[in-house]
Order: sequence, then C-alpha cells, then structure tokens
Amino acid sequence: MNMMTPEIFIKRQCKADTVERTSLIQSLWSGYGEVVRYSLTGQESPSSVIAKHCTFPLDVNHPRGWHSDHAHLRKVRSYEVEQVWYRQWASRCNPSARVAQCYGDFHDEHTGQRLTLLEDLDAAGYSDRYWEHNMDYVLSCINWLAAFHASFIHSSPSLNWPQGLWKKGTYWHLDTRPDEWAAMQEGELKSAAAELAECLDNARFKTIVHGDAKVANFCFSPMHYSVAAVDFQYVGGGVGVQDVAYFLGSALTESELADNIDYLLAHYFAELGRELMAQGESQALVHEVVDEWQRLFPIAWADFHRFIMGWSPTHSKNTPFSQRLTEQALTQLGRD
Ligand SMILES: Nc1ncnc2c1ncn2[C@@H]1O[C@H](COP(=O)(O)OP(=O)(O)O)[C@@H](O)[C@H]1O
Ligand SMILES: [Mg+2]
Repeated sequence: MNMMTPEIFIKRQCKADTVERTSLIQSLWSGYGEVVRYSLTGQESPSSVIAKHCTFPLDVNHPRGWHSDHAHLRKVRSYEVEQVWYRQWASRCNPSARVAQCYGDFHDEHTGQRLTLLEDLDAAGYSDRYWEHNMDYVLSCINWLAAFHASFIHSSPSLNWPQGLWKKGTYWHLDTRPDEWAAMQEGELKSAAAELAECLDNARFKTIVHGDAKVANFCFSPMHYSVAAVDFQYVGGGVGVQDVAYFLGSALTESELADNIDYLLAHYFAELGRELMAQGESQALVHEVVDEWQRLFPIAWADFHRFIMGWSPTHSKNTPFSQRLTEQALTQLGRD
C-alpha cells in the first residue's frame, strides 16, 4: 500500500495509540493476501482487530494475461463485493444473523490492494470453530442462515438489486463456470445444467445468499451455541436453499446427511417461517416461500453437484447421496 500501511490505517480508523501485528490467521487463495490479527492499545479502540488484506500478484508473465483469466477477474471482483457488503449491506442483517462490525475499508486504485478492518469475532465470544459431528453447531448455522435469508426476502427485486453485490451469488453458478461446464462428461446433468440454473434464477422469491456458507466460514460461541459468519466474497441474489444445500454438504458426512436431511430441512424451514413472521410477513407469504424453496432444494443441490462434476468429478463430494439427490432434481425438471 503506497504511503498507507495497514498499521497507519488501523491506527486512524480505530483511534488506537499503538498497533501491533500479532498473528497471521490465514493466507488468501493463490497468494492474494492474508487475514491478520492486530493488537491495539488506546482508550477508545478495541483491543484487537482482524484485517483482511488483499494484494494481487502483478505477474506480467501470466500465460493468458490476467485480464482474460476468468478465475483471476472473479477473485478481484469478489474482494470488491465483500467491501461493498460490509459498507452498505451488513448493517441490514437481522440481529440473529450476526456478522462482524466493520471499522472501515481501504482501496488503492493503482495497486489494486484492498484492506478491510473487521471486529475480532473471537474477542466478541465467537472463538470456537467447527469440529465434526457437532449437531448443535450445525443447527446454529441453520438458524443463522434462516435469519439471514429472512432479512433480505424479496418477491419482485428490481433489475439492479442487490446493488453492488453479485447479481447472482455463490461461487459455483453456471454463468461464471463455463470452463467447468465444458469439462463435464456428456450426459443428462450436463444437458440440464442451464435448465437447473434457470429454475433458480426464475424463482419468485429471492433473497441474498451468503454464497460460500461452508462450515469453515462460521465462528461459534461455545457458551450460547450462537454463530457469526465471515467471508462475504460471493454474496448476492439467490434462493435460500442454495446456501443450505452447500452448507449441509460441507458440514456433514454422507451417512449423517442421509440420516438427518429431512429433519434438518424441516428445521431450516420452520426457522425461516418463524423469522419471516417475526418481521411482520403474513402466514400466506411464509407458505408460498416455503413451498417454492422446498421444491428448489434438490435443484439447488444438483446445481452445486454440476459444478463438482465439472471441476473435479473424483472429489469426495461426489457421493452416492449427492448423485441420488441430483437424479431426483433431474426427474423433477421433467415433471415441472
Ligand atoms: N472478523 C473475524 N474474526 C475472527 N476470525 C475471523 C474473522 N474474519 C475471518 N476470520 C477467520 O479467518 C478465516 C479466513 O477468513 P476468510 O474471510 O474466510 O478468508 P478466505 O477468503 O481466505 O477464506 C475464517 O475462516 C475465520 O476463521
Ligand atoms: Mg473463508
């Protein structure tokens, strides 16, 4: 960052006397930057802050040139979207869909660098991360998703909604994955890919989806089984069950999925209905949303399965459970 170091920016934004880099939490994808914790002192400042610092490799020798590289351009845009999310949208979340407070962001147009300063969720009590087979934590995430989706429900969104975010959320949706689609083996799923995507796009009820709601992107409070979510790079328009399908696939083993799927979906829809009623929506609307999104759950699942089958068909997510649900979606397409 020319002239502006993270330390200087943090000092100013958080009104801190001193700022010290304490730990690297994670490097970003492909050397694109890092997530770092800083410790602060000062009467008015928080005692720590998380900085998501995105820097772009300016490798002029890239074989196809960065500007024609889909994956690179999608990443660059995703960091911009995440900043818009924290600046313009995050405060509109239902309080039960907890997200980090943002202390400010910085963008250098010359270097492309971005810095986003976030509340330290560990310090706010969300210091735990998921471990396997923890059904209480799974249910907390489902509650979070229901509250989040209820916050942004929309039956007739305008053309530019949701402004500044992805028109279509999720990192796997078909428009942004032409190469993966082309790599798919010929067959029913490949031919039906566009139709699956259309079913989701043409849904009457839309909301904002997190877009990368895997279990690793949730921070847990061990005291209250409550959660907060991070990583809003793929946040945008969609239907709630896209997040639900992807989340469940990220948290549960195949046998856990097979045993619990009905119960977990029922839990999501009950919570979604409760949150919608609590914010003043009518019972009739709740029924219509739930009806539509229940029907779209297998479609959303199959849409993600389509991505896996193009990206890496030998991936552990290509399970018999996932194949069965995809079959169900394809049969459903024929009937609808
Ligand atoms: N505000 C925060 N408070 C505490 N931990 C955080 C915060 N933001 C991110 N993290 C931790 O850092 C990890 C990486 O951040 P994330 O935004 O998901 O980056 P990436 O794009 O590399 O996945 C998260 O999974 C989470 O454990
Ligand atoms: Mg992440």
